[in-house]
Amino acid sequence: MSEFKKTILCIGAGYVGGPTMAMIAAKCPNYKVHVVDLNEERIAAWQSDDLPIYEPGLLDTVKVARGRNLFFSTNVDAGIAEADIIFVSVNTPTKMFGRGAGKAADLQYWEKTARQIKRCATKDIIVVEKSTLPVRTAEAMERILREENDDFKVEVLSNPEFLAEGTAIRDLENPDRVLIGGRETPAGAQAIQDLVDVYEHWVDSDKILTTNTWSSELSKLVANAFLAQRVSSINTISALCEKTEANVKEVARAIGTDSRIGSRFLYASVGFGGSCFQKDILNLVYLCEHFGLPEVAAYWEQVVEVNNWQRTRFVNNMITSMFNTVVDKKIAIFGFAFKADTGDTRESPAFYAVKQLLEERANVVICDPQAIPNAQIDLAGVKGNISYEADPYKAAEGAAAIAIFTEWSDFKELDYQKIYDVMSHPAFMFDGRNIVDHQALYEIGFNVYPIGMSKKVHFTK
Ligand code: UDX
Ligand code: UDX
Repeated sequence: MSEFKKTILCIGAGYVGGPTMAMIAAKCPNYKVHVVDLNEERIAAWQSDDLPIYEPGLLDTVKVARGRNLFFSTNVDAGIAEADIIFVSVNTPTKMFGRGAGKAADLQYWEKTARQIKRCATKDIIVVEKSTLPVRTAEAMERILREENDDFKVEVLSNPEFLAEGTAIRDLENPDRVLIGGRETPAGAQAIQDLVDVYEHWVDSDKILTTNTWSSELSKLVANAFLAQRVSSINTISALCEKTEANVKEVARAIGTDSRIGSRFLYASVGFGGSCFQKDILNLVYLCEHFGLPEVAAYWEQVVEVNNWQRTRFVNNMITSMFNTVVDKKIAIFGFAFKADTGDTRESPAFYAVKQLLEERANVVICDPQAIPNAQIDLAGVKGNISYEADPYKAAEGAAAIAIFTEWSDFKELDYQKIYDVMSHPAFMFDGRNIVDHQALYEIGFNVYPIGMSKKVHFTK
């Protein structure tokens, strides 16, 4: 007899699966939690103290449970055979081929996983969608699993993950809510309850919301769409502020104090990045088009278009300000991660900016406290003069400009006088995150270009 009440399996040891399972294992010592992935290197890293993702507090959480009730392996088949509850957290990127290319979700890993579960399961199971998926994907999963299957019973639940990178552990430990969707049948209700039992080990019951499957699947897409929409909204206003001497930080504060609007997610920036926002909105757009709602699709697509525009606008502004040419100019890119406190660079605005700057034949040096390895992977096939330097003081040596793309606190605390002294002059600062003291930098001698605020320049024109 196992010493554990139940065995949980998670397929996919990525940014979502890894931290989520570490938290469940840490909080539920009576459940065995087994995390599997096809990627051997990733699994080996999860078994070491050099985890495959950088996330504050993650290693401590992993260490609470690893070897006790948290296990990592590549043995997917054996994991499935033993499991009572199977979380599926494989990646579902935007489909880049065929029907729906550029918008729809690529469900190939998802379906392969469903078939593997069917082949290897030995007892009644609950399958939990953790990956973000188009609405009604659970139905497809159920069909695959139930068709010609008298061996075991299966219930499919949707349990989207709302953690944000950089704050994953905090978000998992103290979530605003946990959302669980299932079938409105007695078996569905029982499966929901089984998953509620897991989360109730540490989450208050009033924060555990249960809905039907389709509401849960859709809510995840809609939550990300609304969050991204706020960023795009404030970014459109940043452009207007730059034209009118209004200050976007002041505007954000003024509107954000209205409790109906709220103050969070109103930071104007060089654009949102990350693996989810763009992918999920495009997925929503595709769904709307599919269901014959072109106006709804166009409305949401605009959020992504504004984001693309903001990214390009920032780089165009850099080029224009630097006398319409950046050829052979050294430009220090401060931050390549899509946000602070992560090494993740997926859809990072810095990636697009670097490509644009290289097309303009700039000499780009990338500086980031965590993301240089991923930056090197992302830019491996990109031609041009690129180098990497973890030390910001060295990165700035001889540079004509610094462009801040990630709001790392490291960049707020630098000695900018020292940096100015080693740069070529006139020296430019393009602050894509509004994190440095613009007036102080201006007084040092920088020409400063924030987002959504008047520039501070020493030229008379
Ligand atoms: C995942 C989903 O991609 C995304 O849709 C959802 O919004 C959040 O969860 P993430 O954890 O960031 O995102 O993805 P990633 O870090 O790429 O991890 C997925 C893992 O699944 C990878 O380690 C990959 O090796 C693994 N995988 C993929 C499998 O084990 N089997 C497969 O068939 C495919
Ligand atoms: C997001 C959602 O927040 C999370 O709930 C979901 O599970 C996954 O997608 P994540 O992508 O990790 O999380 O980070 P998030 O903090 O939401 O930031 C996304 C992007 O928006 C980042 O590039 C960030 O810098 C940018 N952003 C965010 C802004 O530019 N301004 C803001 O005010 C907030």
